[in-house]
Amino acid sequence: MAKTYKKNNRNVYKIPLYAQFWVWFGLVLGLAILSLLIGFVVISQILGIVQFSLWSLVVILMIWRVYLLTKSVIKAETIGRYITQTSAEKVVTKSLLATMSVNRFQDTPYISVPEVRVFDRRPSHIAVEVEKLAGMYDIDNLTEDINSSFRGKLGDYAVTSAMITTNGLIYKFVLEDVATDKTWRLATLDQMKQPSHVLTLQEGLTVNLADFPHLICWGKSGQGKSTTLISLLVQALMWSKSKVYIIDPKNEFSAMSEFYPADRIAVEVNDVLRMLAHVCDEISERQKIVADGVKIHQKMGLRAYDLGLSPIVIMADEIGSLVASMDNKQKKEFLALVTQIVQKGRSVSCFAIFGTQSPKTDTTLSSDIRSQFATKILLGSANGDIQRMAFDGEVATKGNIERFKGFYVSDGKTIQPMLFHVPDLHSHNLNDLKNIRKAYEIGLGID
Ligand SMILES: Nc1ncnc2c1ncn2[C@@H]1O[C@H](COP(=O)(O)OP(=O)(O)O)[C@@H](O)[C@H]1O
Ligand SMILES: [Mg+2]
Repeated sequence: MAKTYKKNNRNVYKIPLYAQFWVWFGLVLGLAILSLLIGFVVISQILGIVQFSLWSLVVILMIWRVYLLTKSVIKAETIGRYITQTSAEKVVTKSLLATMSVNRFQDTPYISVPEVRVFDRRPSHIAVEVEKLAGMYDIDNLTEDINSSFRGKLGDYAVTSAMITTNGLIYKFVLEDVATDKTWRLATLDQMKQPSHVLTLQEGLTVNLADFPHLICWGKSGQGKSTTLISLLVQALMWSKSKVYIIDPKNEFSAMSEFYPADRIAVEVNDVLRMLAHVCDEISERQKIVADGVKIHQKMGLRAYDLGLSPIVIMADEIGSLVASMDNKQKKEFLALVTQIVQKGRSVSCFAIFGTQSPKTDTTLSSDIRSQFATKILLGSANGDIQRMAFDGEVATKGNIERFKGFYVSDGKTIQPMLFHVPDLHSHNLNDLKNIRKAYEIGLGID
């Protein structure tokens, strides 16, 4: 809730005395002590009652204060976090006041100051929420105020994403440690080996597809989309007995056919459709296996993952250009198959990993389909419209972003878009064909 501050005679806005707990507490305590002192001189029954009431009030106020404090500390989880959060809340509030971001009219004696809440979620991030009041400056000014408030040991944290809640009542900021490079830097193929269903995307960010299925990556040419997908391909190939189907409209993976089963790479539209239909058949078969599993184990909600079935992955780079080359009938068929895969795949360990140019130009994938992807990555700079399409209304900070970086949201991990770093495969040539071959052999167990 907003608080009202009053301008004092030095032209500084402060919380007025009557709105401060310690003023009232001091007053009651003073009166209680006074009544005690008077008690030494005068003896009266009424004075006794007054003394008792005042001291009771002192105790009640103290208990109330301790209760509130304990509640806040428990909510913050540790005392250290509580201190970090409350002191950051104070500094941010001060900064909002100092720059008058809270009110355009500087000459009023009273001013409404928004409630500021800070959540210390380090090492992942720090979240800041600022109540939106009428007449408040736009999100960019607030971002500056917040950035300038975090100094000292939190000085490496800066706002990476800012948004306003859909009801328009709260500004939400995510601050990340921008001084630490989170790029997943790899020197050997072994470092890329993950437990089945698990994908590492960057330092400190892994997703388990069994829990959070499907991943989509948008980005214009040269932003590192293929590199990102290849890092996922290599990891998926190394999962024990996994099956990866590759849709390759730009014919970038055809060299893999030297060692890779021909029926798992499709370049031409008709081959793609045939391959997807085959995957849908596999899904149906698996649904039967899972249904039998439910009967045998007498457990509802059982998944292929719980039954130890190895994952199936459909990896598609540049689906936009694939769809662009289809006629209407093929488009319809393609979308029907993709819809089946993303909807039914999750319970039978069949996952889509898609890469395409932009959520705006590729209207191929309806928002219904997009919403099935638990992890979404948007590489490179993008305007608000594109960000809104990618992240279902949640907007990352506008402005330019460095090459090979972007934003991501991931169900169960992020509350709003966060900074994404394209993995570094090129420094040690890990995107070489011979490494992809090696990864495939590791997955087959012929390592
Ligand atoms: N993190 C990175 N740092 C430096 N160069 C990179 C990085 N990621 C990719 N590259 C290089 O940038 C170029 C474009 O990357 P690519 O993944 O093919 O982009 P896209 O598929 O989006 O067009 C490639 O030559 C690739 O080796
Ligand atoms: Mg590419």
